[in-house]
Amino acid sequence: MSGAGTAAEALRAAVPRLAAAGVEDAPRDARRLLAHAMGIAPDRLTLHLSDRLTTEQQEAFEVTLAARAARQPVSQITGRREFWGREFRVTRDTLDPRPETECLVAAALEEPFSRVLDLGTGTGCILLTCLAERPSATGVGCDVSEAALAVARENAAALGLADRAEFRLSDWWKEVEGRFDLILSNPPYIAEAEMADLAPEVRDWEPRGALTPGGDGLDAYRAIAAQARAHLEHGGRIMVEIGPTQGREVARLFADAGLENVEIRPDLDGRDRFVMGRNP
Ligand SMILES: C[S@@+](CC[C@H](N)C(=O)[O-])C[C@H]1O[C@@H](n2cnc3c(N)ncnc32)[C@H](O)[C@@H]1O
Repeated sequence: MSGAGTAAEALRAAVPRLAAAGVEDAPRDARRLLAHAMGIAPDRLTLHLSDRLTTEQQEAFEVTLAARAARQPVSQITGRREFWGREFRVTRDTLDPRPETECLVAAALEEPFSRVLDLGTGTGCILLTCLAERPSATGVGCDVSEAALAVARENAAALGLADRAEFRLSDWWKEVEGRFDLILSNPPYIAEAEMADLAPEVRDWEPRGALTPGGDGLDAYRAIAAQARAHLEHGGRIMVEIGPTQGREVARLFADAGLENVEIRPDLDGRDRFVMGRNP
C-alpha cells in the first residue's frame, strides 16, 4: 500500500467497503476508525481531511477496516468507549458499556450512598462512575471473569479511583462480604433462544458470559434477588438493569425476596430498563 493518498480519499474508499459488509452506520464508523489510525480525536478529523496519510497510518487504517468489516465493534478495535463522559478501556473480555446503562447510574445518583457493590462489573463502568461522582464513597466490583476484572482495575487506576474501588473474583454473592447501602448490577439477561438473533457485533465478538446466563435469561436475577437483603443495609437500595420485556418478572423476584418499594423504570427511549427495590 502506498503512502500517497489523503485522509479524505481513504475515507471515501472505506465507507462503501464497510457498508457492503453490513455495517449499519458506515460513514460514522469509518471516520472514527480513521481518526484512531491517525492518532487524533474524531472531532478533529475534518480539519485533517486534506492531510496525506503516512504509510503507517494507511496500514493502521487498513487493519481497523478489516476488523470492522468482520463486524468487530468499534470500541473493541479502538479499545475505548466513553461512558458518563469518561473514557473506559474495553477489550474482547468485557461488555462494551451501553448508553442505556447510564440510566441506571443516573437513578443510583438520585440519593446519597457511601458503600456500593457492583455485581458483574465488566469494565467497572457502573462502579467507577458512581465513585467518581461521589468522592467520599467506596465500593466493590465483582465478576466471574478474571480477565474482565483486570480491565476494571486498569480503568480504576486510569481514573484515579484505585484507592476507593476493590475488585473481586466472585460468582455473584459467593465472595461478597458485609453490607452495602447501594447494590447495582447489569447482569447477563439475554435468553438462550434470543442469542442467534443478535447483531454479529454482539453475538460474535462480545463475551458470551456477559450476554446470557442461558435458559430464560432470568437466572442472574434469581441469584441476585435471593441474597440481596442479606447484603443491604436497612433502607439500602438495589437496582438492576433488565431487558425491556423482563420488568414484571424481575419485579416479582424482588418482591418475593422481601424487598420494598419495588419499581420498574424506563430508559430514555421509554422502554422498561431497570428494576429497583429497597431493603426494609
Ligand atoms: C452485561 S455485562 C455488564 C458489564 C458492566 N457492568 C456494564 O454494565 O457494562 C455482565 C457481567 O456479568 C459478569 N458475570 C456473568 N456471570 C457472572 C456470575 N455468575 N457472577 C459474577 N459476574 C458474572 C460477566 O462476566 C459480565 O462482566
